[in-house]
Amino acid sequence: MTSSYRRLDSSCSTVLLEVPGQEPPSGLPRILYWGASLAENEQPENLARALNRPALQGGLDDAVPLTLSPSLANGFPGQPALIGHRKGRDALPGFHEVDLIETGNSWKIEAKDAKAGLSLDIVISLTGDSNVLTMTTRLSNIGATDYDLQWCAAATLPVPASYQEILSFNGRWCGEFQTARRKVPMGTLMRENRRGRTSHDSFPAMILGTEGFDEVCGAVLGAHLAWSGNHRVLHERLPDGTRQLQMGELLLPGEVILAPGETYSSPEVCFSFSEEGLGGLSHNFHSFLRSEVLPEQTRSPRPVTLNTWEAVYFDHAPEKLARLADLAAQVGVERFVLDDGWFKDRNSERTALGDWVLDEQKYPQGLDPLIAQVEGLGMEFGLWVEPEMVSPDSDLFRAHPDWILHLEALQEPTGRYQHVLNLTKPEAANYLFDSLDTLLKRYPIRYLKWDMNRDLSHQADGRSFVTGQQTKALYALIDRLRARHPLVEIESCASGGGRADFGILRRTHRIWASDSNDAHDRQSIQQGFSLFFPPEIMGAHIGPMHCHTTGRRLDLDFRAITAFFGHFGLEADLTQLTADELDKVANYIALHKDCRPILHGGKVLRQVLEGGRVLVFGAISNDRTEAMVSYAVLEQTRDGLTAPLRLTGLRSGATYRVRAINRPRDPGRRMKNMPDALFNGELLMSGSALASAGLQIPVLDPDTALLLQVSIAATKKQ
Ligand code: DGJ
Repeated sequence: MTSSYRRLDSSCSTVLLEVPGQEPPSGLPRILYWGASLAENEQPENLARALNRPALQGGLDDAVPLTLSPSLANGFPGQPALIGHRKGRDALPGFHEVDLIETGNSWKIEAKDAKAGLSLDIVISLTGDSNVLTMTTRLSNIGATDYDLQWCAAATLPVPASYQEILSFNGRWCGEFQTARRKVPMGTLMRENRRGRTSHDSFPAMILGTEGFDEVCGAVLGAHLAWSGNHRVLHERLPDGTRQLQMGELLLPGEVILAPGETYSSPEVCFSFSEEGLGGLSHNFHSFLRSEVLPEQTRSPRPVTLNTWEAVYFDHAPEKLARLADLAAQVGVERFVLDDGWFKDRNSERTALGDWVLDEQKYPQGLDPLIAQVEGLGMEFGLWVEPEMVSPDSDLFRAHPDWILHLEALQEPTGRYQHVLNLTKPEAANYLFDSLDTLLKRYPIRYLKWDMNRDLSHQADGRSFVTGQQTKALYALIDRLRARHPLVEIESCASGGGRADFGILRRTHRIWASDSNDAHDRQSIQQGFSLFFPPEIMGAHIGPMHCHTTGRRLDLDFRAITAFFGHFGLEADLTQLTADELDKVANYIALHKDCRPILHGGKVLRQVLEGGRVLVFGAISNDRTEAMVSYAVLEQTRDGLTAPLRLTGLRSGATYRVRAINRPRDPGRRMKNMPDALFNGELLMSGSALASAGLQIPVLDPDTALLLQVSIAATKKQ
């Protein structure tokens, strides 16, 4: 059958769609090519001929294409993009009536099978500069009876055979965004998440790469599902070499039964690829988030934050908070956030969630004196809330025990001693909107830390699952609140990084990447986090010297350098710091403010050295004149001296001054002498020497880091 072709271009890539039949199309299209830009006069028919796959002996008589919705209906034996039925029928729709509408850099494919009573819309868009391809899918029941939908992939993408390795995510509470790398297996590598939130352990993303890919080399392809609920993420390799990536919302049994006329809309999948390794891929996703997803305010300088949690927990003594505010302002903090413990009877994690009124015993004169002090010191005020939750010991639960997510006749297990409110009940959602709206109207609150501290177990309203609806109701609640209070920024926190995804980021301004303020753990958490997210939305605080979640003791430089690159803040009890330590914190904050445009608008640089014993993290300004780089040693290195640190991405012909901001701790312990040039500002190197020869880093103790500042000193005359 003759096919027709459509083409989209970004600044560096081309997508070609092959559509069976001419006008009108007569079957579902397939992506024939997505890769580096093709010549303008490229003839897609020729490319199709060149890529034509022969049908293999022993298989079906015609090669089976991987369409946008692969299915047994056209002979595809792997994971179908659609699973559903109407009492055992209409499980294999043949979408032959197809329309393709092209608008700007998008296609909308409308496909229908009138007999099966189903219509399928797939929207594909390619962003101009960031090289991100997005896809969403909608399935409508145009039949006369209910349709039981079990899986509707948000996107299916063919994966070229050159990608031989796969990187997926795992993790846990206080250990998010860990990565695992392996050879692409035969069969399916599938990650499923049934936690009802994005999860700490299965960040919904996968990266594929050519053999041995690293931060700067190799071709890599990344995919992420922009969704904060259950999900399924899979890569499948079939014996004939066909490979596909599918991602979508994981639907629990009976969760989506489409009545006649109803439509299911999937979340969005964002794909990107780079021929410059993981660094290039991250840059694409960061640019995409910055230009297409994140709320406007994230483009203004991210205020250095003090969060009270690890300094006071539930013990909100006014004098202590006042002292913290004074010290915060003294060291340069710009936003003061009052964490959990401010509302009525909230003296431990066992009570009071749901009762969003001030604790008058702790705050007899309201929050006004504290806010007045904070604002008088030139800082913004922020407040912690956990709206989706209710404690069994709360007025709200006593009044409305039926407002929680629950399965009929079963006791819902509590998590952190709390239940989840059913936001799909309008009365519950309205109560939350009113409570938060009242607070935001009453006090000049500029920031909400929106927490969410448990997995959803009984994701149901009595007898049926409502997980996806709960996620959409959460989005609607936040959107409604933001429409009423557009200046208020919101942090997405879910016991740390349990709700980090592009879906929540369309409506929130930063993510609390982990409950671990332990800089040792944070190093790898932040490396994994930064694969998809830019540093300015990564909440990162200087925690206490004696880490509360691990018991490690870490020095101040290491803690400060680790937090320095993100949305910087403090969580240590400043009243316990010596005057010297406060000065040091103030210096790091001042330097952070100076470098903020580079850290939060530039290109991220990462390296994993010595098998992960050393992690390098940095940012290079877009004009490549400046960079900030941290070199963190997490474990004793194998060799006495590590290999010189090579920095790529700077201008090769320019001369840079390289300066270490801090000095190694007790250098005499490991070195008889230390090269001075790095510390006295006399080290000048060309961009090409930095990239090819590198820079010898002095020997550092485990759990210490060196912060390097690289600034252009001269450019070569042309
Ligand atoms: C979990 C958060 O991640 C912490 O930062 C803190 O806000 C606590 N909840 C408060 O209960």
